[in-house]
Amino acid sequence: MKALVLYRSFYGNTKQVADAIAERLKELGYEAEARDVRQRLADLRDVEIVFNGAPTRMARVNRKSLGVLRKLKAMGFTQTPIAIFDTCAVIPTDPEKFEEARKWIVPGAAGILHKAAADLGLNVCGERLRCEVNGMKGPLVEGALEKARVFTDAFIAGNRKT
Ligand SMILES: Cc1cc2nc3c(=O)[nH]c(=O)nc-3n(C[C@H](O)[C@H](O)[C@H](O)COP(=O)(O)O)c2cc1C
Repeated sequence: MKALVLYRSFYGNTKQVADAIAERLKELGYEAEARDVRQRLADLRDVEIVFNGAPTRMARVNRKSLGVLRKLKAMGFTQTPIAIFDTCAVIPTDPEKFEEARKWIVPGAAGILHKAAADLGLNVCGERLRCEVNGMKGPLVEGALEKARVFTDAFIAGNRKT
C-alpha cells in the first residue's frame, strides 16, 4: 500500500505536519513519502492515498499546490482518496476577534485547495486538517502534530482498502 504526502512549506511548519502524517501512515502499514510539490512527482503507480497541504499566506494558497491537483487529475487520479491540510495563524477563539480576522483565515489554503480538488472532480475528503502556528512563521502550536496523527487515523479508517 502506497501513500503520498505532498506539501509546500516556507518555514518548515507545513513540512513538519507532512512528515508527521507520513510517519503515521508508515505506522499504519503504508509505504509513505512526504514530498515537496516543487519536486518532480514521483512514480505514482500503486498510490492509493494522497495528502496535499500548504501554508495559508495572505489568505491564499501557492500555485504549485494547486497545480499538483491538476496534475493528479490529468494523470487519472480521480478515484484516489485525497486529504487536504494547511497551516495557518492561530485562529481566535473570541468571536469578535475571529470576525476581524475571518478573511485571513477562512477558507484558508485548506479551503481553497479543497474547493479546487472538488471542482476538478477529484475524490477529496470533506474534512480538512488545519494546524495553527504561533506568530507568522511558527512554531506550530502545541498538539498540532498529534492533531495531524489523529486526522490521519480517521482518514485512513474511512478509506482503507480491505
Ligand atoms: C507573508 C505571510 C503571510 C501570511 N498570511 C497569513 C494569512 O493570511 N492567514 C493565516 O492564517 N496565516 C498567515 N500567515 C502565517 C502562515 O500561515 C505561516 O507562516 C505558515 O503556516 C507557516 O508554514 P510554513 O512554515 O510551512 O511556511 C502568513 C505568513 C506570512 C509569512
